[in-house]
Amino acid sequence: MTDTRAAWDTYAAQRPERRPVNARGESTWFNWTQYEDHGPGAELLELAPGSRALDLGCGKGGNAAHLATLGMTAVGIDVSQAQLRAAEKRWGSLPGLVLHQADAVAFLRETDDVYEAVYSVYGALWFTDPALLLPAVRERLRPGGVLAFSQRPAVEGCYGCQASYIPRGADEDPLVVKRWDYEPQTWERLLKWHGFTDVRAHVLPAPAGRRTVGTLIVQAHRSSHTRIQGRPPVGA
Ligand SMILES: C[S@@+](CC[C@H](N)C(=O)[O-])C[C@H]1O[C@@H](n2cnc3c(N)ncnc32)[C@H](O)[C@@H]1O
Repeated sequence: MTDTRAAWDTYAAQRPERRPVNARGESTWFNWTQYEDHGPGAELLELAPGSRALDLGCGKGGNAAHLATLGMTAVGIDVSQAQLRAAEKRWGSLPGLVLHQADAVAFLRETDDVYEAVYSVYGALWFTDPALLLPAVRERLRPGGVLAFSQRPAVEGCYGCQASYIPRGADEDPLVVKRWDYEPQTWERLLKWHGFTDVRAHVLPAPAGRRTVGTLIVQAHRSSHTRIQGRPPVGA
């Protein structure tokens, strides 16, 4: 069984740093997709300066750093020490940016803090059972607050818990982590069942070019009712 932290530390060593500037010449920016200079920005989080946002699986910290430059308190948590070391090195001096090493569910269950937005870009939300993570997120979001996340869309017919492989050397087995894939409509039903409202889930097409896989982008708001009665739409 793969050690999750070790797996993500291995992944961290393979991932390049974010570019110094984007196509618009900005030194910080928000990117929800796997493509450069593509897709929506921080507006999806509906935050005002001074708000608190939580990044679940912040990686090397570029998105949280951008929110900090906009005047938010941006808390980035990640299970990987290697990812956080890179985040600290590049963005550690930014006022408003707070980084913690933690597992997403454990962090949410232990903190008393409340956030105006919780988000995850190809992050812990993709790699955690939503039956555990969604109730924990809802608990820490203020009513009306935004949960937003992005990830690769499900492959048709491959739904629920899937294996993700993190490659290593030619003579070594890859490391395996679990991820949860659903179609947009399933995410909408799942989020509503867990007490979220105004849920919008869609696949943003890839930009023009040779790569064709789009990005699943989901935005939801914490409602005041806890959850819809009845059976969960999928293994929740
Ligand atoms: C694919 S990377 C994405 C990183 C970053 N959000 C980005 O856009 O570059 C996934 C990140 O989620 C983190 N992660 C995975 N499972 C996690 C968990 N249960 N709790 C906290 N972080 C987790 C990994 O360590 C890794 O940094």
